[in-house]
Parts: sequence; structure tokens; C-alpha cells
Amino acid sequence: MRRFKLLFLDRASPVSLQAQLTSQIKELIRAGQLAAGERLPSSRDLAADLRISRNTVVYTYERLISEGYLDSSLRSRIYVADTAPELQRAAHERGRHRQTVRVPATVPIAGGSTAPMPFRPCQPDVQLFPLAMWNRLRSRALRSTNRSLLHYNSAAVLGLRELRENLAAYLRESRGVRCEWWQVAITSGSQQALYLLSRLLLKQGDRVYMEDPGYQGATKAWQVAGADIQYLPVDHEGVTIPPLAEEPGKLMYATPSRQFPTGVSLSLSRRLALVNGAADSGTWIVEDDYDSEFRYEAAPLPSLQSLDVSGRVIYIGTFSKLLFPALRLGYAVLPVPLVEEFQALKSTVEDHGPMIDQATLAAFLDTGAFYSHIRRCRRAYAERQRAFLDEIQHGGLPLDFRYTDGGMNLTGFLPAEFHDVEASARLRRAGLDVPALSSYSGRAGDPQTSLRDDESRTDHGLVFGFTAFTPERIRLGVEMILRTGLA
Ligand SMILES: Cc1ncc(COP(=O)(O)O)c(C=O)c1O
Repeated sequence: MRRFKLLFLDRASPVSLQAQLTSQIKELIRAGQLAAGERLPSSRDLAADLRISRNTVVYTYERLISEGYLDSSLRSRIYVADTAPELQRAAHERGRHRQTVRVPATVPIAGGSTAPMPFRPCQPDVQLFPLAMWNRLRSRALRSTNRSLLHYNSAAVLGLRELRENLAAYLRESRGVRCEWWQVAITSGSQQALYLLSRLLLKQGDRVYMEDPGYQGATKAWQVAGADIQYLPVDHEGVTIPPLAEEPGKLMYATPSRQFPTGVSLSLSRRLALVNGAADSGTWIVEDDYDSEFRYEAAPLPSLQSLDVSGRVIYIGTFSKLLFPALRLGYAVLPVPLVEEFQALKSTVEDHGPMIDQATLAAFLDTGAFYSHIRRCRRAYAERQRAFLDEIQHGGLPLDFRYTDGGMNLTGFLPAEFHDVEASARLRRAGLDVPALSSYSGRAGDPQTSLRDDESRTDHGLVFGFTAFTPERIRLGVEMILRTGLA
């Protein structure tokens, strides 16, 4: 029993007495304090000695026997199994090996909240979200559906019907989208819609037209399919129109309501050229309408899809900006010939999205809480945009804000003598998150693929998000920019 005096059980520990005893006996074996063939005390004696219940010792012995550390085959005595020291050494080696394995550099290891720093683009203010109302609607949805939301629901691969109906009505009314409810597919953020469209429509080498600068989430989706991406410059009328008659693309991605990240709206003549060119050449247009509700002085512009009579425009949107990004709910409005194939493909990724959140969102739309929330955000964001522009103007910074009619971001174009990547790095060191406009360019490192006139400097500036920050934080943020300088 002498060696068992080494055992110490901590009754205040959250680790159970049985787990403590198990690991300590293993440790005695590993340290050579208990040799193969050596006898252990009876469960009654050890329990009395440690002043614990006999069952704790019995269960510990049973577990160690099942794991191969102890043996009980000899006249009902318990002793250390012949194989135990090797087992323990192997476990020890595994542990050592685990400690030396390094986490790959791109795998994030930090957890917890990621509240944005000023002036990170595209961030809604989650403080404005009516969480209590959301939780009430969520509880009501769970109560009224009598737990049916908790089952698998393969019929809802493209989303809960109530949500698709309410969303279709909203899109028809507010965005002029032409659709029936069954053309609306609910996805895990608009990113999943982009990924599924890439898988559905593209094969290796297919030509895809992208705005430049443009949304990297879309570029990533086309890259997985091995698409041949052609970049289109953006000017004061929005994205330039590709030569679809001579060089038809399989697909073109565009943000016509508010080009991301410059903020310019696509002119009507280009909208018409785009839908006509797509119809004639058979190119699919993916219209990403990510934040068009936030137009501060006028009603939102109608969608490009509303002009499309030939069914070539796939309209996608997200609740990440209107509600909150962690909800991970977005959608695609699919032209009729794509609905079945999209559904089949989506079923290989997930049976269906989160049903409780979808039911809550359906009620949020139905009760009108959604509309009140948008109005509240629009008012707050308009005020923040004004505060930001006023502060910048007073500070006399060399930034030219050309497109200020709405959105969640403002792009300040820089004069040629400034370098936007360096300015962005400077601000980052001061704790500000302001990406360089040129970091959104697909030309970075691959100038061959661009159609851009290289003389143009419209891709050179800084992108400021203002929506997630109170006017006071905006004031302090601009003060910090002035103190830090841009060069
Ligand atoms: C152009 C654009 N589209 C879509 C999204 C939203 O993506 P998700 O719905 O996956 O959150 C963003 C977010 O920043 C965006 O900037």
C-alpha cells in the first residue's frame, strides 16, 4: 500500500474522483512505481484508505481493466497487466507529439468576440438589432409549431416555405424582383449561394467577368471552379460592359445598385446594355444586391433583375447587413430552369438550413418588425455618414468621396502621390481597420487578366465603413486618422 500513499484526490476539483484516480494509477504505472504483475489493493482497502466510496474504486478498476492497464484474470485479484507499461509509454509519446505539432499559420486560434474596429467596412451595428423582439418571435415560433421545427426537413432544402413566401413578397415590392416564392433559395449567407452557383454553372476554364475592384468573396467562389476570370474596370458609371458579343462569358458578377467597394451606382444605359448583352450571348449575370436598402436621400434603386425579361439574371442578397452577420442567412432568386438543379446540388451540402432561425425570420418579416428595424438603421446610418463626412471635411484630409448617396461604406479616392496600401498599413498600426481600395483589385499580381486602362487611378483610395460606429466613435476615429496621417 506504500505506493498508494502517493495518491491524492482533490475533492474541490471539478474533475471527478474517479477520473482523478484513473489518471493517477496510470501515472504510477508510467513512472515505473507500479510494475507489470504487481498486485493492487482490494477495492475495499483502497476505498477505506482514500476515504472514498468503494464503487468509485470498483469503477476505476473496471475502466483500467477494459483499457488494458490492469488484469483481473488471476483468482479475482487485480494486478498490473503485462502490456500496461507499453500502453502508457505509447500514450505519453502521443501526448508529446501533440505538443510539438504546430497550428498552421492560417488557422485562426483566437476565439471570442470580433467586434469591428473603426472603420471596418460592411459592418452593421448589432447594438441596434431588436434582440428582445427576435427572442419573443423565436419562442413563439417554437411554441406554435409544437417542436416540428426540430425534425429533419428534407422538403426544405431551399428553405422554410413561410420565409421564402415573405421574402419573395418583400423583394417584389421593394426591389422590383420578378419572382415566385419557389424561385427563392435560402442559403447560408450569400457566400454559399456564390459557391453553389460556381459549382452549378462553371467548369474549368470558363470565362467569368468580375468587377475590378470587386468583391473577393465572389472571386474566391469562381476560383474554386478554375474559371478564367477577366477583370472589368469601374468608372463613374459603374462597371464597364464586357464585349459579350465577341467574347461571351459563362457568367458575370456585378453589384449594380452600389458597386462594391467604390459605391458608384450602375447607370441606366449600362444596365440595359448588360441585360441585353446577357440575353443575346447567353451569359448568366449574378447580381449581388448586398446593401441597397441603405440609400439615405431617395428610395432604393430597382434591381437589375427587374429589367431582365430573358431570365439571365440570378439575384442574390443577404441578411448579414440588414440584421446581423452571424445569422448566416442569405438567398438567391433563381431563374426557373436553375431551380431544380440548384436544389439537387444544395442537398449535397446540407439537408436544409437552420429551421428555427428561418421561422423566426419569417415572423420578423411578417409582423413588420423587419421594416421598422430597417427604418431605424437607415436613420442612424444616415446620421453616422454625415458625421463621418463632416469630420473628414474639417480635418482637410486629401480624400475625395465621390459616391455618398448611401451604403455602409465610403470610398475616399487618393491623389496619385499617396500610396493606399501604405496609408492603410499606417492606420492599422494606429488601431484603425481601413482597407486599401487597391487590395480589392483582381489585378494584384496578375496584370495580364485585366482589361483596365493602366493610366486610370480610380482604383487607388481607402475604404471606410461607418455604420457600426456611433458618431462619437467616428469623431475619435477621424481624430486618430488626423494624428496618424496618410503618408
Ligand atoms: C459585396 C458583398 N456581397 C455579399 C456580402 C455578404 O456576404 P454574406 O451573406 O456571406 O455574409 C458582403 C459582405 O461583406 C459583400 O461585401
